[in-house]
Amino acid sequence: MPSTDVLFRSFTLNGMAIPNRIVMAPMTRSFSPGAVPGEDVAAYYRRRAEGGVGLILTEGVHPNTTTADGTPNVPTIATAESQAGWKNVVDGVHAAGGLIGIQIWHEGPMRKPENTGHPEIESWSPSGFNIPGKQKWTPMDEAEIEQAITEFVDAAVAAKAAGFDCVEFHGAHSYLLDSFFWDKTNLRDDQWGGDWEGRTRMACEIIRRTREKVGADYPLIIRISQWKQIDFDAKAASNPDEFAVWLGLLKDAGIDAFHCSQRRFWEPEFEGSDLNCAGWAKKLSGLPTISVGSVGLSGEFVAAYSGEASEPASLDRLIEMMERDEFDLIAVGRALLQDPEWVQKVRDGRNDELMSFTKEALGKLY
Ligand SMILES: Cc1cc2nc3c(=O)[nH]c(=O)nc-3n(C[C@H](O)[C@H](O)[C@H](O)COP(=O)(O)O)c2cc1C
Repeated sequence: MPSTDVLFRSFTLNGMAIPNRIVMAPMTRSFSPGAVPGEDVAAYYRRRAEGGVGLILTEGVHPNTTTADGTPNVPTIATAESQAGWKNVVDGVHAAGGLIGIQIWHEGPMRKPENTGHPEIESWSPSGFNIPGKQKWTPMDEAEIEQAITEFVDAAVAAKAAGFDCVEFHGAHSYLLDSFFWDKTNLRDDQWGGDWEGRTRMACEIIRRTREKVGADYPLIIRISQWKQIDFDAKAASNPDEFAVWLGLLKDAGIDAFHCSQRRFWEPEFEGSDLNCAGWAKKLSGLPTISVGSVGLSGEFVAAYSGEASEPASLDRLIEMMERDEFDLIAVGRALLQDPEWVQKVRDGRNDELMSFTKEALGKLY
């Protein structure tokens, strides 16, 4: 069995010294009634810091409590109470010697108003689509776009004030920012649509304005995905040249790293190369990248929601890719959701103690 040493090298991301290459993937847990993370949530994250995770990324956190929320008991950072709750989470992680970044998540066209206390509020999207071709909502107007940008920026500033070590903008998985990126859900012909420049303008404005407020030396990450919730085979950028344009615009706006979401980290992104999405993003942008997807488990996460169990799986392929420096950091989701000691077990070679993942794990804050 190859050595796991490559996972335990340090890495510096815009001044943030991460002790190893393992990132906890953002995972919605729905344990924050009133949109406020409480002591149980703080203890859950603290256990991951005690367990040696290099960088924790929180579950998706809503930048407002009106249009961003569509999943019950998801936290926000837009209220004084939630900001105090997050400060408590951050303090606990820091006391245990860990690092923690917040993921800011606007559900956009995937928001389910019926899951909220304000079902009369329409969900936000560039052109009204959650599924291509099926218009469901009124497209956002200029004032709403401006409001969304301001709320993302305010959330990032509040996160820095609460002590978070970095911010990740959720620009993946068909939610608000991603629905602007994809030309199948963004059919606008104004400055917020059209070519890549138009479709990335909203995210770029958020990054640019956040950068102005948080300073040059505060790490900002964006999570992106080629795949969409209704189409796992979608390619928002159909070839490396297009991908380079997309990434380049976000880089010029001031992003520090790309977190490239895949369901299986080893799958090549474009024909003619074994590089995965994070591998291509690193090569094309020159920025640090985070990969993710089925690390240490036999099955992928979407099937896990509907009950498919996953067995522990070999890390050999991951180790090979990281030894070739194809990407810099690896995010781990479900394996860490159920086992706060996963990192230590991997480091110590205690493979017989690694656990299978079943849907039941979703119901508890281990
Ligand atoms: C319960 C659960 C909740 C998730 N919530 C989020 C989320 O809030 N934001 C996000 O970007 N991805 C979310 N994801 C996706 C994960 O971040 C990760 O990309 C995915 O689980 C693949 O990693 P894994 O195979 O190691 O679990 C979630 C996944 C799971 C299993």
